[in-house]
Amino acid sequence: MLEPLPLDAQQALCPSEQLSERGLALVFDVLLWRQPARAFALRFDGRVVAYMNRCAHVPTEMDWQPGEFLDQDQRWIVCSIHGASYEPANGRCVAGPCAGQRLMALDVTERDGQIWWQPGPDIRPAGAV
Ligand code: FES
Repeated sequence: MLEPLPLDAQQALCPSEQLSERGLALVFDVLLWRQPARAFALRFDGRVVAYMNRCAHVPTEMDWQPGEFLDQDQRWIVCSIHGASYEPANGRCVAGPCAGQRLMALDVTERDGQIWWQPGPDIRPAGAV
């Protein structure tokens, strides 16, 4: 029988092909400071990025529809509440009520057709204690 992965080990997120360029994001459950929360991952300019689904203005989820974070031109991550615009590549807010602040980033890697995320002290896998 396989041993479960340690909770600080990289966590499998999804197969690479699930995240298409500037397509629908994958929203997934995590624990943020031991509280249930959601994060999301999307592909932008070929690279997978992941952030907490938590606006820097008011700590609320940002997607317009589940997994829809990008604006109509697929250029910015835009919060559906008051319209803060974030640079997808680095999570920095470039316009809106929290300009200059950043989304909380998760460390993601892609290898052998699979996307992984790395838990840390603040962001843990859902189900961790
Ligand atoms: S809650 Fe996101 S811009 Fe206000």
